[in-house]
Amino acid sequence: MEVLIRPDADDAARTVAGIVHQALAEGVRTLGLATGSAPVGVYRELARRHRHEGLGFAGVDAFLLDEYVGLPPAHPQSLAEVIRRELAEHVDLDPARLHLPSGTAPDLFAEARRFERCLTEAGPLGLQILGIGVNGHIGFNEPGSSLASRTRLKTLTDDTRRDNARFFGSIDDVPRHVITQGLATIGEASHLVLIATGPHKARAVAAAVEGPLTATCPASVLQLHPHATVVVDELAASRLE
Ligand code: F6R
Repeated sequence: MEVLIRPDADDAARTVAGIVHQALAEGVRTLGLATGSAPVGVYRELARRHRHEGLGFAGVDAFLLDEYVGLPPAHPQSLAEVIRRELAEHVDLDPARLHLPSGTAPDLFAEARRFERCLTEAGPLGLQILGIGVNGHIGFNEPGSSLASRTRLKTLTDDTRRDNARFFGSIDDVPRHVITQGLATIGEASHLVLIATGPHKARAVAAAVEGPLTATCPASVLQLHPHATVVVDELAASRLE
């Protein structure tokens, strides 16, 4: 695992955007996208590079990591809408190539299987962007998630719902369930790039990078991956040895 420490969050976002830019220039055509505050910084930089540096997404297939159950796709906090607002609307990504799990499908179990199949058929994603929760989750694989898990329904922990209440106004409005790619699904991407910024992520980053491989810290699965890059600002790096 490679760990890149940058002075601040903007620098970390620029570093991740640079990795994505280079991957696309080298011919990667499948991207996995996370949401969350730190990944959104990456998307703003990618949009800037599209406008000013000719970075193109034509022919790229993008796959979202997760979605809240019960939020219609146009809800401002649905992860589909976040990714459209923060990235897709600002670049030349073909909307038909933005692949999303639906949180309002009539049969959510079948929807999780459909999305998993869609990922399998696309082949290993060239590059997967990840954020990390304060509790060490990636995607919405909360602590205790099986390291062998595939795309499925998960219940959010109260901690995660409290953390994400800032996007919704009140914890009561944060959905209780999600569809998320599993840890094994995520691990199939050829290159995992995790971004974490801010002092509140320092403990999770240290556990993921230097702690034991354990389902208690789902992000520790990156230790098993042949090509994982962790990009952190100095605050998120502050507990690394
Ligand atoms: C959501 C996702 C999550 C977030 C994580 C960090 O698609 O993948 O793992 O990336 O919860 O979110 P922030 O940066 O908002 O703390």
